Amino acid sequence: MQYFLDFMGRLHPLIVHLPIGFILLALLLEFSKNKFKEADKVVRFIMLWVILSGSFSLLSGYLQYTQEGYLWKTVERHFYLGIITLLLSLGFFIFLRNRTFLNRIPRIFFPISLLVSIIITGHLGGNITHGEDHLTAPLKAFSSDFLEDKSKAKEFSLNERNFKEQPLYSAVVAPILSKKCVSCHNTKRTKGGLQMHSFEAILKGGKNGAVVNFDNPELSELLVRIHLPETEKKHMPPKSKKQLTKAEIRLINYWIEVGAPEKQTLGQLGIKRELIAPFLKKEEVKFYPDLGLDTPDPEIIQSIASKGLIISPVKRGANLLTISTLNLPEFNTTQLEELLVIQKHLVSIDLSYSAVDDSVFEVLSQFPNLVQIKLNQTQITGKDLHLLSRLVYLKKLYMVETALNGETLSALQEFPSIEQVFVFQPDRNIIEEVELSPDLQAIIEFGDALLPLLTNEKESD
Ligand code: HEC
Repeated sequence: MQYFLDFMGRLHPLIVHLPIGFILLALLLEFSKNKFKEADKVVRFIMLWVILSGSFSLLSGYLQYTQEGYLWKTVERHFYLGIITLLLSLGFFIFLRNRTFLNRIPRIFFPISLLVSIIITGHLGGNITHGEDHLTAPLKAFSSDFLEDKSKAKEFSLNERNFKEQPLYSAVVAPILSKKCVSCHNTKRTKGGLQMHSFEAILKGGKNGAVVNFDNPELSELLVRIHLPETEKKHMPPKSKKQLTKAEIRLINYWIEVGAPEKQTLGQLGIKRELIAPFLKKEEVKFYPDLGLDTPDPEIIQSIASKGLIISPVKRGANLLTISTLNLPEFNTTQLEELLVIQKHLVSIDLSYSAVDDSVFEVLSQFPNLVQIKLNQTQITGKDLHLLSRLVYLKKLYMVETALNGETLSALQEFPSIEQVFVFQPDRNIIEEVELSPDLQAIIEFGDALLPLLTNEKESD
């Protein structure tokens, strides 16, 4: 339904030309009615179509107003004149049927007033779609300012690393204003006499003078307007438009409070992190690497699945696989070797509760792209754990409730990408058995690994 209303609304600029055409045709006939025999009847017939197509135009126009968020103030006069045009058409139609009270009005009133009303209605309509100066705009087209409007909305480009070197105005304030204010305050549409497409234009102010008050920043018209309640007529941006977010308002406040500087950077101003945080682009950290691998052979996948292993892609389209032996408590290192046919595609393996022993490390080290390995509740002691240092993507390693010898953990020092290692043992405290560097202690989880286990499961999906 929503789409339908939207569609109908958008049809308005198209549909309106129907009644306009009909009216012009009727007027043409009316003004040369002496040349035709049954002119009255034909004009009446055309007026009927004016009424039908005109009503439809009115409806679609109203929908366009509600669906596309025009200000009522903008469309008001066009809307009322549309109704007047429709009423005049109805009047003329009734007049032409004769013998009604309307026939006391001189006939010439109808064609003349219809002509005037469609010209005004049409012009007001044009102002809405093309801007108030659409008739005179071509004259200004050569001024350089006019071209400036066409530059795209400014974009945020801040991130965690570069934000301190960025100027507050151009990197944050301008993109906000560009998104939420400039559509009405630019060189082409200068609502309230105010332009906001550039720093200089903002300082120049609007028809009521400066909008930034350097003596009393909090009294700046620009701030006053955005802080007015949304129901207030003077609130900016107008109610029907996309509103500023709290973070955006806080930032504009800050900018004006520190004197609306143009060039000063966020670092120089010593801006508080929480003010700027909502505008920082998050740099996506990928859990699995982009390897650009071909799709694994479906037959191989089939045969692996038929052995009772759980095999699935880690995410759609990535051609990376995860395997679990959860259903196979007898699964051992020899069977693991058979999986070397998908050596490169395997990025995550869960061998928990299986029958693997320390020989597993040698085989695992031959899967070059492993990111996550789970060996919970297995026989391993950690002998040969050091072989896994060959795995350049290995980030997470689980060895909860095993026969782990704490001494072997020092090998982790050589692991290039390791982020977390879970070694919780229910009946002993590994942390007391070994001495590890602070770096290693920071990544090893000695405690109850059950909670991190759960959260991790989610992330790596
Ligand atoms: C939908 C169009 C529209 C948008 C978007 C818009 N304004 Fe306006 N603005 C107007 C109109 C219309 C006026 C003149 C009527 C009035 O004073 O309320 C105006 C007037 C103003 C004035 C007063 C200028 C003067 O000197 O009288 C300020 C300040 C202002 N706007 C700031 C803003 C800010 C800041 C934003 C963005 C957060 C914004 N406007 C977004 C339409 C808009």
